[in-house]
Amino acid sequence: AIRVFRQIGDIRTFRRDCWMKNLSVGFVPTMGYLHEGHLSLVKKSLEDNDVTLVSIFVNPAQFAPTEDLDAYPRNLGRDLQLLDSIVSDDKLRRVAGVFTPSVSEMYPSGIPLDPSKQEGAFVTVAGVSEQLEGQSRPQFFRGVATVVTKLFNIVQPTIAYFGQKDIQQSIVIRRMVSDLLVDTKIDVGATVRDQTGLALSSRNSYLSDEVRSQACVLYRSMMDARQAFLNDKSVTVASLKSQIQNQIASVNDKFTIDYVEFNYTDNLEYLVDNATIDEARECVLSLAVRVPNSNTENVGTTRLIDNILFKK
Ligand code: PAJ
Repeated sequence: AIRVFRQIGDIRTFRRDCWMKNLSVGFVPTMGYLHEGHLSLVKKSLEDNDVTLVSIFVNPAQFAPTEDLDAYPRNLGRDLQLLDSIVSDDKLRRVAGVFTPSVSEMYPSGIPLDPSKQEGAFVTVAGVSEQLEGQSRPQFFRGVATVVTKLFNIVQPTIAYFGQKDIQQSIVIRRMVSDLLVDTKIDVGATVRDQTGLALSSRNSYLSDEVRSQACVLYRSMMDARQAFLNDKSVTVASLKSQIQNQIASVNDKFTIDYVEFNYTDNLEYLVDNATIDEARECVLSLAVRVPNSNTENVGTTRLIDNILFKK
């Protein structure tokens, strides 16, 4: 069975033992409510490493006061069952553990409601945190980079696993690890989707069946844009963007687009509207769309994100 660690000191003791035995440690940081996307990263880690640790921690510092911190889905019992089942399927019976720290231990100086009043140390990765998600959510990547640094300082992973679903997050983490000389390799796993193409996300649990089935238009519209580009490589960014916007609006006029953008993956520089896509440089098409929530208690909208790469 999977071991559960609740305290930072217990992970540190466990990690010291791994160093002594020269065991590699794979690490999958998550906010829980696990799905096949998370589990694909765990499976990769089990294959690549002697020991795998998964953290489950809903990180308050990456939620703005207006966002869904309290509503964010949590079910530790279910998460542990899912992890137990893949770990016991593992034929080599490799060791796996779950780390579920408390907010007070992770944030000894506390977390103010207004994130601009945060005191003490935090990690900012300038240059790749301001675009896309960072534009819609100004403190978001500071919260992510800070918690991932704390987790890396505790776990000291040999390899850490992230998903392409949150491509900007993996770009921010790669940059942080490289600039801060962190001795951890970063591995990015492909986006796992349901049968309709909708990217798996813990937040999909907020959606009604109808909206959930309509939400596959996000991925379809991006794939159609890629096809339009392959058919005519002189097509402009503006025309691909408006094709996507129209396609999404035609499925549900309550879907509101936060952004649809093309960026180069090396530095997240935006491709301007009258640009054509330069195949010599890898770029990412990404979008964020607000869709209606399922019931009246959970009023408002859920923000879904997705992306695909345009490669050589
Ligand atoms: P969370 O949203 O729980 O995601 C944990 C990891 O799973 C991330 O690396 C994310 O990119 C990956 N993931 C999510 N959905 C995926 C999918 N459909 N296919 C493949 N991978 C997927 O991302 C976070 O948590 C947090 O920001 C965290 C890094 C834990 C810091 O708090």
